[in-house]
Amino acid sequence: MWWMRVILVLLLPFSFLFQQGTCSASTEQEHTCLPSSCGKISNISYPFRLKDDPIHCGDSRYELSCANNVTTLYLYSGKYHVQSINYNNFTIRLVDPGVQQSNCSSLPRYFLSRSDFCDTYEYEDKHCKDPYQAVVEEDPSALLFEHIVYLNCSHQVTNSPKYVNTSSCLNLNSKSKGYYIYAMAGDLIAQDFQVGCHVKLVTPTSWSGLQRNQVLSYDVMHKALVYGFDISWFNLPCKNLCGDSDYCSFNYTTEKLHCYRFCHNFWGGDRDDRFCGKIYLYLSILF
Ligand SMILES: *[C@@H]1O[C@H](CO)[C@@H](O)[C@H](O)[C@H]1NC(C)=O
Ligand SMILES: *[C@@H]1O[C@H](CO)[C@@H](O)[C@H](O)[C@H]1NC(C)=O
Ligand SMILES: *[C@@H]1O[C@H](CO)[C@@H](O)[C@H](O)[C@H]1NC(C)=O
Ligand SMILES: *[C@@H]1O[C@H](CO)[C@@H](O)[C@H](O)[C@H]1NC(C)=O
Ligand SMILES: *[C@@H]1O[C@H](CO)[C@@H](O)[C@H](O)[C@H]1NC(C)=O
Ligand SMILES: *[C@@H]1O[C@H](CO)[C@@H](O)[C@H](O)[C@H]1NC(C)=O
Ligand SMILES: *[C@@H]1O[C@H](CO)[C@@H](O)[C@H](O)[C@H]1NC(C)=O
Repeated sequence: MWWMRVILVLLLPFSFLFQQGTCSASTEQEHTCLPSSCGKISNISYPFRLKDDPIHCGDSRYELSCANNVTTLYLYSGKYHVQSINYNNFTIRLVDPGVQQSNCSSLPRYFLSRSDFCDTYEYEDKHCKDPYQAVVEEDPSALLFEHIVYLNCSHQVTNSPKYVNTSSCLNLNSKSKGYYIYAMAGDLIAQDFQVGCHVKLVTPTSWSGLQRNQVLSYDVMHKALVYGFDISWFNLPCKNLCGDSDYCSFNYTTEKLHCYRFCHNFWGGDRDDRFCGKIYLYLSILF
């Protein structure tokens, strides 16, 4: 039947698109060097390097510093303490240097939020070349961290449970000073906004104990700051595995990277060939 041939001719050139590459997360052996160590971070290896490592070790975009046994990482305008590095899921956990574990009046020093990371808004943009990512690519709405927002208000806020009283830790609050400092977990959305309040600081945390819709105390928020926040470098192993032309995603359950092609189907192109594969299957059953 002629129309069957037409369908086959249409489909065949695209069939190579349905091949998928899956590969274990451990790739890229070319920069092998002995791991470096600094304080409690005992396994600094590719892509990371310390300033004094041999020049061919690691990747210069992932350089860490070591001073007084503390490993630090420069990120945008801040300098953060490295808490841990996880090479299986490509995440590094950082803590703001202003936060001291046993001092709940200690405050973060730097302003940092998801909008500093280009991948949160330009998810599909190949021009987003930042070395670190804030998003789990399998699900662009899933961030590796959420925010703690500090607000300075000219009056007491009693009608919103999201405004957490900080006076148990911060003795900045007093009527005589004429302002009140509150902390909030998550994002400040329009309906939470109170006239007379100003955002003083936004800082990330990945601590899972900060569930939304739950009344928090400031002590719990301080614990979350001490835990720190995760960011990822998975774009680098993705590029190493899939190259520039393929898309790449990371499955946090299996800890595997996955390459896939941009798929041009007759319906105007869907970006994921796993979906096109289904249409292909559907058509081959139909004809
Ligand atoms: C250090 O990291 C490398 C991967 O970069 C891994 O193969 C090795 O097992 C790690 N060693 C330790 C002691 O964690
Ligand atoms: C850093 O840690 C090492 C090993 O734990 C120790 O020998 C050294 O004295 C420490 N240095 C400083 C400056 O604390
Ligand atoms: C990455 O692995 C570490 C250690 O298993 C874990 O604590 C962390 O939550 C993982 N990160 C993500 C985003 O799954
Ligand atoms: C706790 O942190 C606050 C704010 O940074 C500081 O003023 C205070 O001296 C610190 N207390 C201790 C015991 O380090
Ligand atoms: C809070 O705002 C008031 C009035 O704008 C200002 O005088 C005060 O210094 C601020 N406090 C802090 C801790 O930012
Ligand atoms: C916070 O709580 C304390 C004690 O419960 C109270 O005295 C204070 O007025 C509250 N502060 C604010 C800013 O709501
Ligand atoms: C990750 O892999 C697991 C096991 O293969 C699979 O069940 C799950 O659907 C995958 N997750 C995503 C988001 O693809």
